[in-house]
This record gives sequence, C-alpha cells and structure tokens, in this order.
Amino acid sequence: MTGLTRLARMRWWHLSDVLTLERQLFGADRWTAAMFWSELAEHATRHYLIAVGESGDVIGYAGLCTYATEAYVQTLAVRADRQGSGMGRDLLVALLAEADRRRVTTVALEVRADNATAQRLYLRHGFELAGLRRGYYQPSGADAVVMVRAG
Ligand SMILES: CC(C)(COP(=O)(O)OP(=O)(O)OC[C@H]1O[C@@H](n2cnc3c(N)ncnc32)[C@H](O)[C@@H]1OP(=O)(O)O)[C@@H](O)C(=O)NCCC(=O)NCCS
Repeated sequence: MTGLTRLARMRWWHLSDVLTLERQLFGADRWTAAMFWSELAEHATRHYLIAVGESGDVIGYAGLCTYATEAYVQTLAVRADRQGSGMGRDLLVALLAEADRRRVTTVALEVRADNATAQRLYLRHGFELAGLRRGYYQPSGADAVVMVRAG
C-alpha cells in the first residue's frame, strides 16, 4: 500500500461506498445492505476495515468474524482500478494480525473456486485448501473452496 492510503475501521457511514464496490465486484452474489448492517452491529465478534484512498474515498474493505478460537475471513475486496498494488494483501495481513491478537487457532474462509487471484493470495499467507462447497454462492450457484490457516 502506498503512503497515501490508510486502513480504518469500517463504520456505518462508509456503507454507501462499500455497497457500490460490492455491486461492482461481486455482481449478483453481492451482500445486501442489511447483511453489512448486521455485521457491523456485532461489535464483539467482528472486525471490519476499509482502505481509504488519497481523496478519502473507500477503495477496499475486509472483515473478520471470531468465535472463541476460530476466525473467518468474511469478505475481502479492492476496487478494480486499485487491484494489483498490494492493498488486498495489506487488508488480509491486518485481519490476520487481529486474529492473532484474539488468539485464534484457525482462520477459515470461502472463496470462489474460479477466483485464482484470491486463492493465490490466501495460499501465500498460510491458507491451505480444505474442501469444496458446491453451489455455495447465490444466486449464481458458483462453487466455493474452503481454505484454512492453522495458527
Ligand atoms: C482478490 C483481491 C482482494 C486481491 O486484492 P489486490 O489488491 O488486487 O491484491 P494485491 O495487489 O495485494 O496482490 C495479491 C497477490 O495477487 C497478485 N495479483 C493481484 N492482482 C492480480 C491479477 N489481476 N492477476 C494476477 N495476479 C494478481 C499479486 O501479484 C499478489 O501476488 P504476490 O503476493 O505473489 O505478489 C482483489 O483482486 C479483489 O477485490 N477482487 C475482486 C473481489 C474478490 O475476488 N475478493 C475475494 C473474495 S474471497
């Protein structure tokens, strides 16, 4: 990430920008506003971050959910014109640091089976393929692979 961008906690007033990106990046399978509101309401178990660009706009976001010793990467996304510059990696590293702070023993996630870029990012950060969920993404019906990182 460049010195001109920074990470911050996601708050409700970021959701309009986040939902615009969500629509652009995930299409029919995107999360709804209600899903994000519900995630942000779970203060104790959720840790959501945004990446803020030079002009204060949201250019990426990511979220972690933790229950006892297990954590889940709920989402990770970078605006199309900012992809490939290390922001996805920085957001993921920040989530994993939070998982470490919470002393979890495993971090799991689902990622589209056809999303090679994201899978490579996760593999580089210690995740391993752990399973397949057929038709996991709705309404598209795309398959997900499950990836797990042992602490
Ligand atoms: C997956 C995603 C979050 C990665 O974020 P990013 O900022 O583009 O990724 P980074 O710049 O940090 O790069 C991470 C790795 O992917 C590689 N990469 C990034 N974009 C790439 C591309 N278009 N083609 C090939 N490799 C690419 C980088 O080289 C880097 O690899 P390295 O660690 O070997 O150097 C981003 O592409 C995205 O938002 N995609 C759409 C939404 C999505 O798929 N989210 C994941 C849901 S599980």
